[in-house]
Amino acid sequence: MVDERAGGKHTNSSISRRRFTLAVVIASIAAAFGSLLSFLKVLAPKQKGGGYVSTIKPRDRLVYARGSNTGNYINISSLNTGDAVLAYPEGKTSNPANLVQLIKLDEKVYKSPTHLNLTDQGLVAYSAICTHLGCTVSWVENRKTPDTSYTECFCHNSIFDPTRGAKVLGGPAPIPLAQIGVKVRDDGTLIFTSGFTGPIGPQV
Ligand code: FES
Repeated sequence: MVDERAGGKHTNSSISRRRFTLAVVIASIAAAFGSLLSFLKVLAPKQKGGGYVSTIKPRDRLVYARGSNTGNYINISSLNTGDAVLAYPEGKTSNPANLVQLIKLDEKVYKSPTHLNLTDQGLVAYSAICTHLGCTVSWVENRKTPDTSYTECFCHNSIFDPTRGAKVLGGPAPIPLAQIGVKVRDDGTLIFTSGFTGPIGPQV
């Protein structure tokens, strides 16, 4: 049968073949485009940090983040060697990226890569967000030898050395917890003196 519409001289089977060929070509292009996107996705750097952006500024005051004293200023007189508490900057407690672990050890135990200029009177502070998948870290205190206490994330058992820049001693955490500067004021309360020294939040 001849199709003479539009002046053509094509048969129905000829038109069907063309439509089929066109559909195959479109499907091939779509598949190739999809493959290209997948390839680029693999090449693209993974988003790290999980959206954690701290808003801590120098001179922000440290307040307790947990317990019956939540929201109160932390005073160095309330901390013994070997103690650690979770802290927030005053007024910025709704941002989990601002959570830090404040630790008090003998000031002589800190070694590189700890930033000594960001410590004060044995106090050091690190991000409390694990660099593996973002759980909040805990403090494992050794009461007999306080200076051997350490930070651990119990989600997958990453261990961090607070005396050496929170370097990773074990577990899946890929990088240390970032340090942040703290200083004791004349009245014994504490302020931050810097931003974080490195990335915070999950890094995998
Ligand atoms: S989230 Fe901390 S070890 Fe996995």
